[in-house]
Amino acid sequence: MSAAPRPALLLLLGLSLGGCCRFRIPPHEQVARVARFVAHRCDWASMATTSTHSPVVGQPFSNVFSVSDGPEGSSSGVPYLYLTHMEVSVQDLQVDPRASLSMSLAQTDYCRQQGFDPQSPLCAHIILSGSVYQVNGTEADFAKKSLFSRHPEMIDWPTDHNWFFAKFNITQVWVLDYFGGIKTVSPEEYFKATPFKKIKAQNVAGTL
Ligand SMILES: *[C@@H]1O[C@H](CO)[C@@H](O)[C@H](O)[C@H]1NC(C)=O
Ligand SMILES: *[C@@H]1O[C@H](CO)[C@@H](O)[C@H](O)[C@H]1NC(C)=O
Repeated sequence: MSAAPRPALLLLLGLSLGGCCRFRIPPHEQVARVARFVAHRCDWASMATTSTHSPVVGQPFSNVFSVSDGPEGSSSGVPYLYLTHMEVSVQDLQVDPRASLSMSLAQTDYCRQQGFDPQSPLCAHIILSGSVYQVNGTEADFAKKSLFSRHPEMIDWPTDHNWFFAKFNITQVWVLDYFGGIKTVSPEEYFKATPFKKIKAQNVAGTL
């Protein structure tokens, strides 16, 4: 067994590196802002499609995807993906583009540091309903900048896989960020909301 750093040391490192606390989660009653915050903080999502593959044809099929809604600190709210038709879930999407995407602050340090179980509503998580389709032109340029800045290894993914950029087109946002049941946010409210406070955003820009 290698010597693990002591918790006190980890805490010190966490604090000095900024860890959880460089970004502050919006107040839970500002549901649309919380949703935007979670969507921007998470680098990956679980995406459920309707399977077209035996022996689970017609059943939900949940799979992991790298996502980005914008370069660090510059959130659009739209989860972009880098996909290939060789991928099993993408083959499902060719038949039925409808999908569900979920992201949780359990994917960041936040919930562990706060002592929130991933299933606790305090460990904020969102579920997006919608569909996935390819983007082209200037939107593909933005998708590329968003994804490659946060997933640098994508740049070297094999070109013979014919990767393309896609967006998750949101039709409904579901949010668990507090007790009292799931809350819904319309796409309009979601895209209007700002994940970070303006003053905070300046502070954040200063620390990056
Ligand atoms: C993007 O280009 C692809 C391939 O040419 C096409 O099938 C698709 O419809 C286009 N998508 C949009 C949103 O224009
Ligand atoms: C995209 O989402 C909007 C709602 O945000 C919806 O009105 C529209 O029909 C969707 N488009 C597609 C191609 O799914």
